[in-house]
Amino acid sequence: MERENMRSVRTAVVGCGMISDIYLKNCRDLFSILEVVGCCDIREDAAKQKAREYGIRSMTLEEIMEDTSIEMVINLTAPAAHYAVIRQLLQSGKHVYTEKVLALELEEAKELATLADKNHVYLGAAPDTFLGSALQTGRFILDSGMIGEPTGCLAVLNRDNRVGAEFIPYIARAGGGIGFDVGIYYMTALLSLMGPVKEVSGFMDTREPMRTHRYPNRPGFGEPYQVECENLMAGALHFQDGAMGTVLFNSECIMNRYPELTIFGTQGILYLPDPDGFGGEVKVLRRGSREPAAIQQNHGFEENSRGLGAAEMAWALRKGRVPRAGKEMAVHSLEALHGIAESARTKRAYSMTTDFYRPKPLPQGYLRRSDFADFEADEEAALAVDGGGLEDEGKALAADDAGLTNETKTLSVGDNGSVAKEIRR
Ligand SMILES: NC(=O)c1ccc[n+]([C@@H]2O[C@H](COP(=O)([O-])OP(=O)(O)OC[C@H]3O[C@@H](n4cnc5c(N)ncnc54)[C@H](O)[C@@H]3O)[C@@H](O)[C@H]2O)c1
Repeated sequence: MERENMRSVRTAVVGCGMISDIYLKNCRDLFSILEVVGCCDIREDAAKQKAREYGIRSMTLEEIMEDTSIEMVINLTAPAAHYAVIRQLLQSGKHVYTEKVLALELEEAKELATLADKNHVYLGAAPDTFLGSALQTGRFILDSGMIGEPTGCLAVLNRDNRVGAEFIPYIARAGGGIGFDVGIYYMTALLSLMGPVKEVSGFMDTREPMRTHRYPNRPGFGEPYQVECENLMAGALHFQDGAMGTVLFNSECIMNRYPELTIFGTQGILYLPDPDGFGGEVKVLRRGSREPAAIQQNHGFEENSRGLGAAEMAWALRKGRVPRAGKEMAVHSLEALHGIAESARTKRAYSMTTDFYRPKPLPQGYLRRSDFADFEADEEAALAVDGGGLEDEGKALAADDAGLTNETKTLSVGDNGSVAKEIRR
């Protein structure tokens, strides 16, 4: 593909399970910057089937790593495999975009981020739903000052994993709990909108860890199983800019079709939809109004656009800028969740050790709508226009050029344009 003089990024997918279809479909149909040429799975038959369906090569991980024409790999393995798979790929010099979470353990995630910098390759991670139309509209509203200064936020997520674990077994295993597996969408949404957090505290528990499979038509009916992860998590967040918030992630309830993601400001309240999706209604209640008003959306990616973060990273690679769904925010998001877990153990507030620059908003007006058939700027073009990357990226680059450090912060910019901002306390 030659488009805007941009060479597409030859890509392979590792992990051909449940989520792989929407990725392979979107990479083929939505994102011309990504050219998926191969796929791999430890279950060879699964890889062969996807290869047949999408007209790509079934490969081994070694073949992918040795193929110098493949620049980027999208990792869609289960969370427990992430660290080992990503580490090998980074070591082989591939740019990696991974489904969440970056790694199960915070130290592993930090190690991967360091390794990416050392090898001068990009590392990006889901969730990428913050790049969708709803959360970008939310960002536009915040930036416009419509709700004044954000002072607080609330995220409430309820599901029934007793039922869910019968169909998606990993959600009862390490790393699959409600906080780390789904709460991370809420955490990432809040961070992308409100910036970094300085301190967190909270509680976490596994209610009824021993259970029995109870669906006659499912494997293991009547047999016991252990829930290895959290199913209740509640946290308090203290943002660097002074705002405060609370989160509740509860999978011992029913599936709540109306989860809450709300930002409170000095002049109004912003109501956002489920950040597990890309679109949805965005409402604002302004001082003096009795009812919240729905806001017209003018950003692309309102449908299921999984792969958006990977495509944005591919454009960043070609444009020589920092990806929006980059490793720094992913590590910070994971640390905030681990911090809540740590606070639950120690009964003390947890001080964050990592930091990130807020990703810049996507430009509005790049749409995928059939009634705009003659509208030439399609939504992918929003990823390609200049000015993407991170807020304060310019400042960070300038600081690095000048070798500037101060007592509290060190800014460093890798050769690949990635920005690490480390807090020294
Ligand atoms: N299923 C969903 O609805 C969903 C939604 C959003 C995100 N995700 C994320 O997507 C990722 C994959 O989820 P899924 O539901 O497709 O899981 P899955 O279990 O259906 O698929 C994972 C695949 O990875 C393969 N695999 C495991 N270890 C491997 C290795 N070392 N090398 C190669 N292949 C390996 C497995 O054989 C399996 O086919 C996870 O990170 C998950 O958090 C899933």
